[in-house]
Amino acid sequence: MDAVTINRLFRKAPMWVIASHNSGKIKEIADLVRPFSIAVKGAGELSIPEPEETEKTFSGNALLKARASAKASGTVALADDSGLEVNALGGDPGIYSARWAGPDRDFQLAMRTVEEKLQASGSPDRSARFVCALALAHPDGAELVFEGEVSGHLVWPPRGENGFGYDPVFVPHGHEVTFGEMDPAAKHAMSHRANAFRKLVTTVLTP
Ligand code: IMP
Repeated sequence: MDAVTINRLFRKAPMWVIASHNSGKIKEIADLVRPFSIAVKGAGELSIPEPEETEKTFSGNALLKARASAKASGTVALADDSGLEVNALGGDPGIYSARWAGPDRDFQLAMRTVEEKLQASGSPDRSARFVCALALAHPDGAELVFEGEVSGHLVWPPRGENGFGYDPVFVPHGHEVTFGEMDPAAKHAMSHRANAFRKLVTTVLTP
């Protein structure tokens, strides 16, 4: 598909559905999209259910979620699949990052589980990265996916009240504070999600 067709299909849609029920993610994505004057709604607001994440990659799961919401809403859908990859744990929790928080979405539990596994591994390597795949799907079947990442290391105990998920244990490279302690605007400027979004902007939202 040529660049002009991509622009017309996605940029001119009257609204984008954010194919997520995670309020932290929806807020971050809405902040990223706002400067482009595209109206957004969360899938929950439109009563669109979340499909089961059956793929083995971030991109695969992002596409699966975007496709389902585009089909259900009849408009463009943007999905995010993201997670934390810890090098000493062979990339875990990875695509299972949300699932490590259990049915109650308890991220204190998820962060503690990562820390306990790191301690048990005996490795001094505390490096980790957040990865994000953003998928855009059009009800007509066109789809695009963009990946971004941010590298850093893990600290214990968790620090800071901002952000969501594993933010309180992640310190990005070149910084002293965790994403949980950082001003949200500073996180938005450097996060895995922002890096993926920059690629989306170049391809889809730049006239
Ligand atoms: P999923 O993409 O809905 O499967 O969930 C991704 C999970 O990864 C989230 O629930 C968080 O636990 C974690 N995650 C993704 N992005 C971030 C982030 O920016 N900060 C903290 N945790 C994140």
